[in-house]
Amino acid sequence: MELAPINPPVHDTHHRILPRHVRFDFSATPIQWVPGDPGSTHVMNTLNLMFPAGEMWFCRVYNRAMPHISDPKLRDDAEGFLRQEALHSRSHGSVLDHYWRRHGIDTKPFTRHLDAVFSRILGDRPYGLPWGGHSRFWLRQQLGIIAALEHFFGYLGGWVLDARALDEAGTDPAMLDLLRWHGAEEVEHRAVAFDIYRHLGGSYLGRCWHMGVVIVSLLGVMAWGVRYMSRQDPDAGRPRRLFSSWWAGARAGRLPSIWGSLKSAVRYFVPGYSPEAEASTERALAYLAISPAASVAAHGGNWPGGRTTTPVLPAA
Ligand SMILES: [Fe+2]
Ligand SMILES: [Fe+2]
Repeated sequence: MELAPINPPVHDTHHRILPRHVRFDFSATPIQWVPGDPGSTHVMNTLNLMFPAGEMWFCRVYNRAMPHISDPKLRDDAEGFLRQEALHSRSHGSVLDHYWRRHGIDTKPFTRHLDAVFSRILGDRPYGLPWGGHSRFWLRQQLGIIAALEHFFGYLGGWVLDARALDEAGTDPAMLDLLRWHGAEEVEHRAVAFDIYRHLGGSYLGRCWHMGVVIVSLLGVMAWGVRYMSRQDPDAGRPRRLFSSWWAGARAGRLPSIWGSLKSAVRYFVPGYSPEAEASTERALAYLAISPAASVAAHGGNWPGGRTTTPVLPAA
């Protein structure tokens, strides 16, 4: 049985989503790349470790969904989304080669479990069940989970573009450019996963369920990751906890506020929710036009190429 397109697309950005090639150099990135702030560093490091496996899973799900997308514009959006996510996954994977290994941090015990989550529990074993991994129903569940995750990524992307406290703290410029380039593309394609989910019959109640699953899972993985990562960092002093690190980092403006993140999650439950309202495409494109990693990939040269700072957008 075909997945019938039930809900018409509600967002029309009239903007072609294309991947941008990037080149980063993490050879000078210190272990605490937000200087003197192991809590903020390892909260964001946990995301760094989640993206390679997580966004590759997005690509596998989208490859399965593609034949069912009947709207040509949505198909085009989905292709652009898929290609951008593949590059995000690869770029965060390069952090592994040039940052984790150089600092002697063994990420395997953490990433092994993440790989199992994405390939089994969210892959061919729906929520851990031994059957139904190739059903259309499960495909819709996967698309709903991706849409809920993309809501957060769009929110975080909008935040990092304007997080001036990270510049003021002397954050490693290559790592900050990685976060801002990725964040800007998350803002750029923030409506795609939601539109595809609705196009393939995603319901309001389903969306609430998926957001609930995502909140609980993300908090669990983040809590575990921050503790694991800070234990591996000899300069962290003591193992860090997610909420105390998040609280302190948010107060300093180096992490998004807990209250703002909570409000963002609540907006997803509002029946008239629209991803378009979550961030500004213009600001995202403005950063992508000046991202050093995108520039060296397009025009040659090396990153950081003598740079000691990441470009900052003028205040909105
Ligand atoms: Fe991404
Ligand atoms: Fe994304």
